[in-house]
Amino acid sequence: MVHHTTESAKPVDPALRRASSPGGDDADAGRPFIVLEAATVEYPGRGAQAPTRALDAVDLEVQAGEFVSLVGPSGCGKTTLLMAVAGLLELTDGSVRIGGRQVVAPGPDRAVVFQEFALLPWRTVRRNVEFAFEGGELTRRQRRDRADEFLELVGLRDFADHYPAQLSGGMRQRVGIARALAIEPETLLMDEPFGALDAQTKVVLGEELLRLWERDRQTVLFVTHDIDEAIFLSDRIAVMSRRPASVRCLIDIDLPRPRPHDIKTAPEFNEYRQQIWNLLHDEAAEASREPN
Ligand SMILES: Nc1ncnc2c1ncn2[C@@H]1O[C@H](COP(=O)(O)OP(=O)(O)OP(=O)(O)O)[C@@H](O)[C@H]1O
Ligand SMILES: [Mg+2]
Repeated sequence: MVHHTTESAKPVDPALRRASSPGGDDADAGRPFIVLEAATVEYPGRGAQAPTRALDAVDLEVQAGEFVSLVGPSGCGKTTLLMAVAGLLELTDGSVRIGGRQVVAPGPDRAVVFQEFALLPWRTVRRNVEFAFEGGELTRRQRRDRADEFLELVGLRDFADHYPAQLSGGMRQRVGIARALAIEPETLLMDEPFGALDAQTKVVLGEELLRLWERDRQTVLFVTHDIDEAIFLSDRIAVMSRRPASVRCLIDIDLPRPRPHDIKTAPEFNEYRQQIWNLLHDEAAEASREPN
């Protein structure tokens, strides 16, 4: 069930909502939901260029309702992995299954948030969010109410009639997140969604995202270069090897939830930070010894 307990959110007729439950439903909790088996992606080179192998037989299981971050060296294949799960990219070999079904195309069960969210500049903030359920069965009024509900959640209700160009970078990312959440996806795929933002906004949006995730418990795959962000948000962190990516190490982040923001100063947090940093450093060092 999607719970709407936020006082500020306008109630929306539950009958309008998706019938199926999101990944966090009790019945699904703890079961592998996203399953990559020997997932391999090789991009063909142009002309005489050699092909680029971006993913090399990646095995990864993500439980329903789990928040998993991917960290790894630049160019190792994190975006490629996310695109494969989104169904935007065909595997060369292996498989990606979600809820037991093979991923062959994008679907409304998955929403993708990119680093620079592609908002439509000629549409207001509200109309950008409404884009998420165009082509559906909602009336204009219902679309509008729903868009406003999700804008409220990300603190942008007062900017519904503004255009993207009138917003800050952080606000634009919030609109992107509202649009992704408005689909009510079971799975959220986020590729450095706060990567282009300043450190403070990043922290604030990370906390907001956690608050929303704790409410709805989507299954999340989150790519970031920020180790603190990964630890703060995640149940588990997959540390990827250098290209072609495989999962080098899976780390359980055994910190209590909800997580207070000052948890980043806790000794356990620092241990995770050190462990992940060492793994990434080793990858980088090995890469520099081996000419590619
Ligand atoms: N469309 C494409 N065509 C050909 N090669 C590609 C394409 N997209 C990515 N690659 C190659 O695949 C490899 C992995 O790229 P990918 O974007 O998945 O890395 P990444 O881990 O997301 O990197 P970053 O951290 O810098 O975002 C790179 O070597 C890149 O050159
Ligand atoms: Mg990337």
